[in-house]
Amino acid sequence: MADSSSFSFTALYTGETWQASGLSLPELRTPAGDVMYRLLGPAEWAGKAIFGTNLRQMLVERHALIDRLTIGHLQDWPHAQILEIACGLSARGCRFSRQFPELRYVEADLPAMARNKARALTQVSGRSPRHEVVPIDILAPSGPLSLESVLTGCFDRTRPIIVITEGLMNYFPRPVATHVWRRLAEALRGFPQAAYIMETYPAPKPRLLRAAAGLGAAALRLISRSHAGIHFRTADQAARHLAGAGFEAVDIAWPTDDALLCVLDCRTGGARVSG
Ligand SMILES: C[S@@+](CC[C@H](N)C(=O)[O-])C[C@H]1O[C@@H](n2cnc3c(N)ncnc32)[C@H](O)[C@@H]1O
Repeated sequence: MADSSSFSFTALYTGETWQASGLSLPELRTPAGDVMYRLLGPAEWAGKAIFGTNLRQMLVERHALIDRLTIGHLQDWPHAQILEIACGLSARGCRFSRQFPELRYVEADLPAMARNKARALTQVSGRSPRHEVVPIDILAPSGPLSLESVLTGCFDRTRPIIVITEGLMNYFPRPVATHVWRRLAEALRGFPQAAYIMETYPAPKPRLLRAAAGLGAAALRLISRSHAGIHFRTADQAARHLAGAGFEAVDIAWPTDDALLCVLDCRTGGARVSG
């Protein structure tokens, strides 16, 4: 089975960024994330000064936009359940379970990361009994860690479901990601309504920013020993691709007009199609 654990550590940096922007909980703080955050401070400062944006801003905007889209679906489908794949140090499960006390929220990640996350969450007081962390490997073709097994084992097939992947799919080569999207779209057809929320990084239009994004992706590939990179030149191309993978409706949302990423809101099963 393919091993994609080499980029698990990048979750630590994102986790610390969320800490700094008030989107997380002290119980999810890690010493390694804190060190990485301090070390990358000058580079982040330079990015902001030169390009007017940086990785930290992008990570915060991404998280906040995914929150907003997810809440929109929860308002439409009050009985929906959530699977957050590759949860890393996301505090979304805790935040949402507080905001929506009846919500079934399952976080999932590779076994080692899932164990660490579950351990950290035992420190959080007043957790919902409907909020849990399970192991998953979205590259597993079958068996208990596979996407299909987690969807079958953890969720009620008579209720709508929202699946989130954040900071995951771009680490895989596009054909590998496409295979996962096809499997997910197929599996989600087993629910009355379903939404899949993921981000993608269209090639930036300004030439300098495009070159910087290319360099950043190359550095990330090197340190994470992954295929991190740009899957699609434009957001429309990404949306068409996800529709081709089996989603019936795909909307594109941008955090800001000049953002480096957009979020795709992909649906199956007679879900509301917004304009
Ligand atoms: C860049 S981190 C993103 C974590 C979090 N969502 C965030 O935005 O910070 C990538 C996450 O994907 C997880 N991951 C890597 N390969 C995976 C796989 N095959 N199946 C599920 N999760 C995986 C890693 O353990 C890590 O938590």
